[in-house]
Amino acid sequence: MATQLRTHRAAETAGTEHGTVVTLGGWVARTRDMGGVVFFDLRDASGKVQVVADPDSVPGLEELRMEYCVRVVGELRPRPEGTQNHDLETGLVEVHATELEVLSTSETLPFMIDDRFDVDELTRLQYRYLDFRRDGMASNLRARSHATAAIRAALVAQEFLEVETPTLIASTPEGARDMLVPSRLRQGSFYALPQSPQIFKQLLMVGGIDRYFQFARCYRDEDFRSDRQLEFTQLDLEGAFWGEEDVRATVEVAIVAATQAVRDVTPATPFPVFTWQEVMDRYGIDKPDIRFGMELKNLSTVFDGTAFRGFGAALEGGGVVYGINGGALGLSRKGFDELTETAKSHGAAGLVWAVVEDDGSLRSPVAKFLSDEEQAALKSGLDASVGDTLLVVAGPWRTTVEVLGHLRAQLGTPADPDELAYLWVVDFPVFEETADGGLAPAHHPFTQPHSLEDMKERPAVALSHAYDLVLNGTELGSGSVRIHDSETQSEVFDVLGIAPEEAERRFGWFLQALRFGTPPHAGFAFGMDRLVAILVGATSIRDVIPFPKTQRGVDPLTGSPNPVEPDQLDELGLDLSAATKAALSADDA
Ligand code: AMO
Repeated sequence: MATQLRTHRAAETAGTEHGTVVTLGGWVARTRDMGGVVFFDLRDASGKVQVVADPDSVPGLEELRMEYCVRVVGELRPRPEGTQNHDLETGLVEVHATELEVLSTSETLPFMIDDRFDVDELTRLQYRYLDFRRDGMASNLRARSHATAAIRAALVAQEFLEVETPTLIASTPEGARDMLVPSRLRQGSFYALPQSPQIFKQLLMVGGIDRYFQFARCYRDEDFRSDRQLEFTQLDLEGAFWGEEDVRATVEVAIVAATQAVRDVTPATPFPVFTWQEVMDRYGIDKPDIRFGMELKNLSTVFDGTAFRGFGAALEGGGVVYGINGGALGLSRKGFDELTETAKSHGAAGLVWAVVEDDGSLRSPVAKFLSDEEQAALKSGLDASVGDTLLVVAGPWRTTVEVLGHLRAQLGTPADPDELAYLWVVDFPVFEETADGGLAPAHHPFTQPHSLEDMKERPAVALSHAYDLVLNGTELGSGSVRIHDSETQSEVFDVLGIAPEEAERRFGWFLQALRFGTPPHAGFAFGMDRLVAILVGATSIRDVIPFPKTQRGVDPLTGSPNPVEPDQLDELGLDLSAATKAALSADDA
């Protein structure tokens, strides 16, 4: 009979009867030679257990090194009084080895398999398989798997169908740059990798699939941030005969299931709902962290007719004056200069700061320009106490609130960093202004405007049935009620400056589908990477992605992306430009 490689996993020894002979398989985590008797921790995917062995009766012990992969046979015994470890699940038992087999040896490790030692991220990514042996990554991957399983179970229970959509597609507009794949059979043509399954899920609704979900891999060639990768996973869903409330209720079921699976807490539902206008006005951002206050206050009436030109000119120009109470910041002059620079870098003309002195007066470079009444109204408007720092900005509404939103996000800290503050933001504008003064969809061009007339007459301010889910200041997901008739869809393309011929060429097949009795439908997608990262307390989504790319788009383990052989390019009908070839050979040199 073949040797049994394993009868128990390490963690199972905790619940196994003493005297049982167990066979374990795992890695040597830590060895201690205690004068004749060798102790080592055996680690497997389930945890660790202590092994005790006598070199005289167990051959091979002296060769044992860190991270050797071994099979151990031994008897399970209680640890002697005084040597028990109550912090460890298996801390009351130990395995007295009678047999040891080295299944494979290990070279010296590039880093310790121990979360207590910091390792730079590049090295961790280069040896990602060793990083998985550390508690942090292993438990993050488990959390991710549990979240996925819980969401799937919750949606299947609501009769959602899990449907896979293609990943070699025609380009669809989600706002980012596409990643392209050249076609060998139709040289000169390219597939796009999906930025999301948006159009396909809408086609499923046209097809009467009714309730769809998918853990969808999406690809966007956009700039990296700690919450962005070139490829990432969305939980994507869509429902027919659905309105906004139906979407919110279902997404909440999925989010609650994931939160319970990872955090073992049940967030209160329904999540609070704010309009876009309200969050911008109160927090200066469309993804507010509401775990702390420091809300923006409109001070425009306080400074109506003020002699201080900084505020007066803004108000006369149709602008506003808003402020926040930053609390007891205790900043130096240099600190205020830096805050002012931050405010300017986000578009403010300037930043007015004032500190409430012990006698209640205001210390501020502009105090002398403000009347006593204005100073008193400023303090009461911002609910100020002695020691508080007040920050005030004047200018056009959108810039003003956004500048204060940045300052609030920089200065505020939640009292309980573990708190989870989910919230909805609804009624986003249909469009947003682009850098060149044009209009782009604030969500995507398939979103239903509140009113078609309004959208055509006042596109810059018209609202839509688009909504976001926010967690602790991060946008977790977005969705909308969709346009379900081809005329409205064509009108939106028109406002976006996409001519009918171009719309027909790029999306004719989609406009056609909308003409076959499309049901009203709505949906949503949230980033699995972002959700799990916040739930496990990771600062970057890279920590919950098994094999992520670095900030420069590189996988340090496999070396991707890499140049390909010239005959591969030939086969695809591609040629590199002379400049690219020169750059590549310079890289090689
Ligand atoms: P949206 O573009 O807002 O909506 O994307 C939804 C969510 O996907 C996540 N996400 C990302 N995560 C990591 N890296 C990225 N580069 C990245 N880009 C987006 C975010 C985001 O909130 N089709 C629509 C949804 C719909 O309308 O149903 C869509 O994709 O968490």
